[in-house]
This record gives sequence, C-alpha cells and structure tokens, in this order.
Amino acid sequence: MYKQELTIIVKSIIASNTVNEQLESAQQLSRFYKKLIKNSHPDDNEILVDGGIALSSSGAADCVDDYIRTVSFIKGIYKAMTKFLDDPLEKKINIVYAGCGPYATLILPLLPLFDKGRISAILIDINASSLESVQNLIPVIGLEEYDLQMIEANAITYKIPKDFNVDLAVSETMHYALTSEPQVAISRNIIKQLSSQAIFIPQEIRIDLAYTFFNYEPYLRVGQNEVKGYKESQPYPYKVFVDRLFTINKEHFNRENHNLKIESAFYMLPTIFENHPDICLFTEITIFEDVELKTGESYITNPYCLVSMYGIKDCSEIKLTYDFCDIPKWFYHLK
Ligand SMILES: C[S@@+](CC[C@H](N)C(=O)[O-])C[C@H]1O[C@@H](n2cnc3c(N)ncnc32)[C@H](O)[C@@H]1O
Repeated sequence: MYKQELTIIVKSIIASNTVNEQLESAQQLSRFYKKLIKNSHPDDNEILVDGGIALSSSGAADCVDDYIRTVSFIKGIYKAMTKFLDDPLEKKINIVYAGCGPYATLILPLLPLFDKGRISAILIDINASSLESVQNLIPVIGLEEYDLQMIEANAITYKIPKDFNVDLAVSETMHYALTSEPQVAISRNIIKQLSSQAIFIPQEIRIDLAYTFFNYEPYLRVGQNEVKGYKESQPYPYKVFVDRLFTINKEHFNRENHNLKIESAFYMLPTIFENHPDICLFTEITIFEDVELKTGESYITNPYCLVSMYGIKDCSEIKLTYDFCDIPKWFYHLK
C-alpha cells in the first residue's frame, strides 16, 4: 500500500516543472515520511569526524524540507539511473549512497520505479539511529525485496567491497560554501574508488568568489512561501564576479590530488566598493547533466559572506584558503 503511494509521489516529483509543483510534490514526500516514522528522530547525535560534522538524525531528516534541493537531486539521480537501465544489455546497476540519513531520501523513493532484480545498493551512514530508521522503513514501504545493504561507517574512510563494481555513487552531505559538513572529504574517498565509467552525483560543485552587497543577494529565507526558483530570484545588479575558486568533480580528485587544502591566488581589492562591500562565496551545483541547483534555490546553495571590505585596513589584496582536514572552513590572508 505504501509502495504505491510512494510511487505516485515520486512520479509527481519527476514530472514537476514549476516551483509550485516542485514544492507541492516534495511536501507530499515529507508528509509521507513523517506519517511512517512514529518516533521523533534524535537531535543530539551529531558526530564530529576529521572532514566535517555529520548531522544529527533530526537534522538529516529535515533536509527533505529543503524542497528544491530534494526534488532536483531525485530528478538528477532518476535521470542517471535511467541511462544505465536503458542499456540494451539489461545491466544491473550498483549504487553507493554515502550519508543516507534516516529516510534515504535521494534513493528510496526511486526504487519502486525500477525492477528489483536490476538494482543493488549500499546505504551508508555514520549515525546508527539514522540507519535504523531506514532499516525500519524498508519493510513498512514494501521494499524488502530490493538488494539493499545498510552499513554503519564513516564514508570518509569507507572501503567499497572489491566485488561491488559501482555504477552510481551519491552523496549530499553539504552546507553552503562547502563549510561544516564533510561533502568534500566524502567525495574524495568515494571518487577515488570509482571506475572511469561510474557516475558520481553531484557531478559538479562550483565555488565562485564575488564582491557584492550580501544583504541584497537572493538567498533562501526561512519559510516555504519565500522559496523561489532561480528564474524568479532577482540577481543583485552590482555584483562583481572575481574568479572560480574551484570545481569539485571526478576530474578534481582523479588528478592524484592529495591536498586537504585548496588555496587561491591573491586578488586585488577594489578601492571603491560602496555597491559591493562584501567578499562572498557562491555555490552552484550540477546534479546530473542539465539538472542544476543555482544560488539561493536551496540552503546548500545559499551565498556565504566571508568578510566586509569595511573591516579591512591598509591591505590591497586577498587570498582565500579552503581547509577540509577538520571541520571544513574558509580562511583569508591579506597583503
Ligand atoms: C545533509 S544529511 C542528508 C541526508 C539525506 N542524504 C538527504 O539528502 O536528505 C547528511 C547525512 O550524511 C551523514 N554523514 C555525514 N558525514 C558522514 C560520514 N563521514 N560518514 C557517513 N555518513 C555521514 C549524516 O549522518 C547525515 O545523515
């Protein structure tokens, strides 16, 4: 019974086009999960590891309500899965989902759309209570015939079994400007274990440096009525793009990149900056092919203000460093 209900919801997510349709279908998914989970999720089980903070089960459950994020990831993953399964050789598809949270939100809803014989998935979370929640949901929804392994592990160090040849790996363990959560450390570990044909989702995360007026930038505000699609947000007209600081994708980590720090060049600071006094970082995500998340469409693509130029004295250049060896954060150096 619940499998059929989930199938209807996920089909409406995939078919959604307008922001209102996206909101409505993701809210249905959120209500669906809340109806099935009787006990509230713990909010005191955040885990700190080298590479970032793993959200509490309650915090991870709330991610489903970052509506455009949820819809866009489900659409992108569906598109990638369909590519594999359209293969005339009737191939099976092996999925690794690193950081599944208590609902396995980005994979579980898609399962009823695919034949159970063609999918194997490893669902990983560092949080035992989140995994237990997924374990409980599977028979309740009616997905117990799918080949799903639940693994309690740190995805930053997890070794994928040698006989599990991954086709698709998924991880959404990120906060805006890649701060706080371990997206980069997890991506690095998982991507290094993938073959060249395997797909990693998100395919690309781009971090840009810009000078702007932070308070006038579109960003996702709290409150569902303020959720806007990219096309409905008004860009701040005086924003000055400075540079793309880096792009996280398969190529980035396949270049034998062992560094846990990413350093920029030095950039000139403008002497006149009334219209753009803030030094900010912007995140954009290509989930898969043309499925994207733009600035301010989700919490994870909100802009981030590093420092105001009003607070900088006697310096004319700035250099930025992203450090993800511990809790990921940004530093700046002036000269
Ligand atoms: C932002 S939540 C997203 C949950 C779900 N994937 C979604 O998209 O709605 C990130 C999840 O990743 C898990 N996580 C974070 N760091 C992890 C790590 N190092 N190893 C395994 N799981 C991790 C957290 O416990 C949390 O459940």
